[in-house]
Amino acid sequence: MTTDLGSVLRRILDEVSKVVVGKADIKELLLVTLMSRGHLLIEGYPGTAKTTVARVFSQAIGGEFKRIQFTPDMLPADVTGFYMYLPDGSSRFISGPVFANVLLADELNRATPRTQAALVEAMQESQVTIEGITHQLPFPSMVVASQLPYGGAGTYPLTEVQSDRFLLRAWSAYPPQEDEQTIIDSIDRIETVRVEAVTEPQEILELQEAVRAIHVSPKVDEYIVSLVRSVRENPDVLAGPSPRASIALHKASRALAFLEGRDYVIPDDVKKLFLPALEHRMRAKPEAEMEGVTPWNIIEKVLKETPVPKQLEATE
Ligand SMILES: Nc1ncnc2c1ncn2[C@@H]1O[C@H](COP(=O)(O)OP(=O)(O)O)[C@@H](O)[C@H]1O
Ligand SMILES: [Mg+2]
Repeated sequence: MTTDLGSVLRRILDEVSKVVVGKADIKELLLVTLMSRGHLLIEGYPGTAKTTVARVFSQAIGGEFKRIQFTPDMLPADVTGFYMYLPDGSSRFISGPVFANVLLADELNRATPRTQAALVEAMQESQVTIEGITHQLPFPSMVVASQLPYGGAGTYPLTEVQSDRFLLRAWSAYPPQEDEQTIIDSIDRIETVRVEAVTEPQEILELQEAVRAIHVSPKVDEYIVSLVRSVRENPDVLAGPSPRASIALHKASRALAFLEGRDYVIPDDVKKLFLPALEHRMRAKPEAEMEGVTPWNIIEKVLKETPVPKQLEATE
C-alpha cells in the first residue's frame, strides 16, 4: 500500500462537498460503488443535482472522465466507438466515450433500447467488441447513470436485465429546508468553484484490492441470502431479485465496512445497503401495485421480519 487509503476516501468526500450540499447518502453510495468495482444508477426528479454530483465525483477521482447526454437519436456507435476506413484501405478504431475511468451516462432512459444495450453490455463485460475485434475498457471504469424515475414521452425504461447490471441504485431526493437555503446562499461559489482531482486510478485500484480483503463471516452471508430469498418468495413480487442481488449486497457491504474503518462486515452494513441493492432489481405484481404495494414496501417488510442470525446478534 503506497498511501493511507482512508485518507483517499476523505479527500474525495471533501472535494465533492465543495460543490454538493448534503446528499451524504449519494456520496456514500458513489464511494461504495467505486470501491466495489460496480456501476451506480441515480434516479430522481429534475434539478436534484444528479448530474452535478456525478460530474463532481468524477472530477475528484481523476483519471479520464467522459459524459454522454442520451437522446433518442443516439446510436450504439456513439457509445462504444467505430472503425473509420481510410482511403488506403486501412482502418482505425475511434473509441467511444465508454472508454473512460468514469462515464456519466446522463438521462439513460432517453436512449433507445439498442443503445442502452450497447452500454450495459460494455459495463458488464468490461470490453467492447466491434467488427469482431475486442477492446478492453480501462481500469478502473465506472458508469454513473442518471435518469428520471418515471417514464413519460420519449423515454424507454430499462429492462430488469439491464438494471440488474447496476450494483446499486441511489435516490436523489429534494433537499431538506436547511440544505436548500445553503444551496441558494452559496450558488455563486457552487457554480464557479474548481474541482480538483484528489486521487488517481492507481490508488483506486489499491482501494478496490483492499476492499476485497474485508472479512464477511458465513453468518453474514447467511443473513444476506435469507433477506434476498425472502424478497424473491414474497407473494407480491413479480420479478424477483437474482443472485446478482446477493452478490451486490456482499460486495457493497465489504466496501461500506471499509469506509467505516472496520475490516469485517456487520449486519448493519447489510441493512443499510439492502434498499439500494434491491429496489431496482424487482417489480411488484400488477395486482399488488394496484393496491399501492411498491418494491420499497416489500423491502421494508422483509427487513423487519427477517431475523439476524443468532451468533451475530451477540457480537453486535
Ligand atoms: N444538493 C445540492 N448541492 C449543490 N447544488 C445543488 C444541489 N441541489 C441542486 N443543486 C443545483 O441545482 C441545479 C440543478 O442540478 P442538476 O445536477 O443539473 O440536477 P439534475 O441533473 O438532477 O436535473 C444546479 O445548479 C445545482 O448546482
Ligand atoms: Mg441532469
